[in-house]
Amino acid sequence: MRIINDLSSKDYNSFGIDVPIPCLIEIQDKADYNYLDIKGPFRILGGGSNILISGTLEEKIIYVNNKGIEILIDHEDHCLVEFAAGELWHDAVMWALDKGLGGIENLSLIPGKCGAAPMQNIGAYGVEIKDVLHSVKSFDLQNKLELTFHNSECGFGYRSSHFKTKWRDSYIITSIILKLSKNGYHTINTEYGAIQAQLEAMNCSDNPSIRDVSDAVIAIRSSKLPDPREIGNAGSFFKNPVIPQSHFETLKDRYPDIVSYPADGGIKLAAGWLIDQCGLKGYTENSGAAVHDRQALVLVRQGNAKGDDILLLAQKVKNSVFEKFGIKLEEEVNIWA
Ligand code: EPU
Repeated sequence: MRIINDLSSKDYNSFGIDVPIPCLIEIQDKADYNYLDIKGPFRILGGGSNILISGTLEEKIIYVNNKGIEILIDHEDHCLVEFAAGELWHDAVMWALDKGLGGIENLSLIPGKCGAAPMQNIGAYGVEIKDVLHSVKSFDLQNKLELTFHNSECGFGYRSSHFKTKWRDSYIITSIILKLSKNGYHTINTEYGAIQAQLEAMNCSDNPSIRDVSDAVIAIRSSKLPDPREIGNAGSFFKNPVIPQSHFETLKDRYPDIVSYPADGGIKLAAGWLIDQCGLKGYTENSGAAVHDRQALVLVRQGNAKGDDILLLAQKVKNSVFEKFGIKLEEEVNIWA
């Protein structure tokens, strides 16, 4: 465990917001949790790639940075692999590819750490982590116990889980265990149109390998999503909304090109498309808060924009989408207010 007092938040969040952190407690080993004695309010921080800090940070920050990757079980067709919560997610994907293990190649280049991956059930290009997650090990802060939750207990939904909702701040994820397929047993998922097109452009659409799929995803993401090292952002700022069939039919009559997918309990719409239709793609406020010019679902921080400036822009976006389509967008990013 390492305790650092009075530092800047700048390098700890992908928006690059710069406010003072009074006290950061870095977890370097999961045994550190046994000695953690937190009094007063705290926040749990992983890679900082899905948060927006608005206002000041008065709370202690528990910074999850324990490392380690271990093959727990090696079966003929799959391995169970434990990734420590502090490992970077993309490094985990690359490690799996190097070992010829499949299942997470569609999730290449997603920022953040392994511990945060199940919290919001990260997903991209037709795959969600719940599809390969075996279990989650966590630390119960109040009772000082290590607990393991099986996949079926985690309450996974679209960009959600119990860790993000009712268990928030009660359990800290210490590691995740994934069931990854071995060579000869891979199930390649290229149902997402953009992947097919990219594989064709790369001349490997016939029988692509897990490495090909990863390369295709990396190419698509790099072309559309801003690199947080160059411009502050937290990926998709809003969730794709799910609306009732009846509302969808009214919209479809008026906007025949509306982008939609069938979903549990209704129709899922592409929030990026909705924002784009409001004419907001590339829209920039004087503060430097902006809607990304290649993917309207991403808000970016230019210049010295503050967290509150991004929040103000987010509210404008929500108002515009509500006025035009009667849909209330919800944030995907966690707001630290
Ligand atoms: N679209 C527009 N204009 C835009 C953006 C999108 O018309 O400015 C249209 C696209 O043409 C496409 C549709 O909207 O027809 C969907 O766009 P895209 O394929 O880019 O996916 P998304 O629904 O916007 C989601 C995830 C992304 C993930 C991609 C790929 C959410 C909130 N976002 O975005 O995840 O990479 O699918 O699977 O579900 C993230 O969570 O940070 C993230 C980037």
